[in-house]
Amino acid sequence: MGDGSGQRRGVREAPDRAAQAGGSFTTAVQEMFGSLAHRYDRFNHWASLGLDYGWRRAAIRSLHLSADAKVLDVATGTGDLAFTASRRARKTAAFDFSFQMIEIAAQKANKGDVEGVYFQVARAEQVPFRDGSFHGATSAFAMRNVKPMLDEVLVEIHRVLQPGGRVAILEFSRPPAAPVRWVHGLYVRSIMPRIGRWLAGSSEPFEYLHRSIEEWLRPEEFAGRLRAAGFAEVGYRRLAMGTVALHIGRKGD
Ligand SMILES: C[S@@+](CC[C@H](N)C(=O)[O-])C[C@H]1O[C@@H](n2cnc3c(N)ncnc32)[C@H](O)[C@@H]1O
Repeated sequence: MGDGSGQRRGVREAPDRAAQAGGSFTTAVQEMFGSLAHRYDRFNHWASLGLDYGWRRAAIRSLHLSADAKVLDVATGTGDLAFTASRRARKTAAFDFSFQMIEIAAQKANKGDVEGVYFQVARAEQVPFRDGSFHGATSAFAMRNVKPMLDEVLVEIHRVLQPGGRVAILEFSRPPAAPVRWVHGLYVRSIMPRIGRWLAGSSEPFEYLHRSIEEWLRPEEFAGRLRAAGFAEVGYRRLAMGTVALHIGRKGD
């Protein structure tokens, strides 16, 4: 578990570089997000040009929640998707393995006009809830960061859903159209690290962001992983000219 020292030290090594050097990818992910937590929201909204709000609403709509629904947000970060879910659900549980991220999410919940959202520190590969606890589950932009244990994480999400419950997962994607891919590549490779350096004081996490998007699964490959984890009615929608994919699935009755 992160101990807060990442924030004082700044980002030491990108997770993929740490893993190549024989270290732990997951520990490096945890330290990286711990060190970025207090600047994360600013970067998020700037880098997505404010489009992230709409992506989160689309994810929650795709769960088809009833008013008494219980929702889980996996790797919630500073909680924005959980807050969006809480407008449609009776109860929203959300967790992240970065203590610093959860601290900020909880502060936002205390300041804002939100009800029924509960944050905790936990790991996506060991979801701390009983089988069948939720009507819907979400996760945004976290799957690249659990890539070494992706299948375990998807099986855990499937486990905690009730039969008939739906999952909605947002993740970055490489746009299918060549001109958009070129502009997007330039933006992620050159402009995002500059925004990152300006906002977060280091370009390392944003260079990792670029590499992790380049190396990420195509939406149809990720759909296959959802099916392998037990989900039915699996599909995806491309958003923002294909730079983001919204993946959906349903646990069989
Ligand atoms: C890119 S952020 C996304 C945060 C949030 N979902 C959002 O959309 O803003 C990825 C988050 O995944 C969390 N994370 C990565 N690996 C995790 C794991 N194994 N268990 C729990 N959280 C994890 C990180 O701490 C980080 O907060």
